[in-house]
Amino acid sequence: MISISCEMGENMKQVCERIKNNLLSASCVELNSIMTDSLAELGQCLNAAQINVHLIRYEGHQYRWMRTEGKKEFPIFNLIDISVFEDPYIINGEMTEEFKEVDITQLVFALRSEGQLIGLAGFYWTATNRVSKEVFDQLDQMCRIFSLVLARKIKEDRALSDIHQMEKIFMQTVEAFSAIVEISDPYTTGHQSRTGELARAIAKKMNLGYDAEHSVYLASLLHDLGKFYIPAQILNKPSRLTEIEYSLIKTHPSLGHQILCKIDFPWPIADIVLQHHEKVNGSGYPYGLSGDDIMIEAKILCVADVIESISSNRPYRPALGLDSALFEIKEKQGTLYDFDVVEAALELFTKDKYQF
Ligand SMILES: [Fe+2]
Ligand SMILES: [Fe+2]
Repeated sequence: MISISCEMGENMKQVCERIKNNLLSASCVELNSIMTDSLAELGQCLNAAQINVHLIRYEGHQYRWMRTEGKKEFPIFNLIDISVFEDPYIINGEMTEEFKEVDITQLVFALRSEGQLIGLAGFYWTATNRVSKEVFDQLDQMCRIFSLVLARKIKEDRALSDIHQMEKIFMQTVEAFSAIVEISDPYTTGHQSRTGELARAIAKKMNLGYDAEHSVYLASLLHDLGKFYIPAQILNKPSRLTEIEYSLIKTHPSLGHQILCKIDFPWPIADIVLQHHEKVNGSGYPYGLSGDDIMIEAKILCVADVIESISSNRPYRPALGLDSALFEIKEKQGTLYDFDVVEAALELFTKDKYQF
């Protein structure tokens, strides 16, 4: 019989203290590896064949950390009826309220949070052990830390799933907004999303980082939102626009900006939309901005918009094709369109064989 005695208890105390500090300061990302290392250290210290900490299925979450000597998994929790687990411990299969110094092969602690059973921590030995009261108290304290860790993990996972849900709702809202303009202008069906994919690919090609890629994508999905205010007969006019009609069309970046600036996006979406028809030589609209006064995201959106528009059908003409689109941006590279953006776009289509 192995005796887990007071001397071992002293060592246990140090190990438990270290594990406790590690676990309480662990970030969510580090938790899995720290938990695995902790159980390995604890198992060695106790000479246990298996230590198993697991969360009872809760709100769809289930975690389990296990350390097993010799890779054999012991059926430590198989015989436990969780629904009747009321006492804090199970010793040798017996539910009990108080620890007594007995020979132990199996010791299970209930892990609770706010009075609710959330998990179990089990210790299993192949040979009988006499576990001292001191060692037991250390383990009991350790299991309270496990309870805190599990409760925190549940909260963090819940927050994470809330964030994912919010992100999903956010994207769905953007897509719904994006669809608004396509109702009055069916020729643009898919124009904003295709422009968005291309603009994002150009931003990626230019190594501008996640924020620029994501903001240019979102702004592209919404860039023609202001056209919602423009009469459908002008948007869908099959012949050349009059000067007045064209000046009306030219209000759409400002109208889109007026709507979008009311939303507190974490990126400058409204400003990118406002500038998406500005040209680097100052000949664009609505403000005739030039050069560095135009945001790089707007310059990218402008080029992606032109390529997508020329490649697709319009009310007044059939699709001119990708070659015409690339010819247009190449011809006006550095005058209407930003030099580097055009360079990236051309490389994307010629070298990387980008396809809509
Ligand atoms: Fe536009
Ligand atoms: Fe557009």
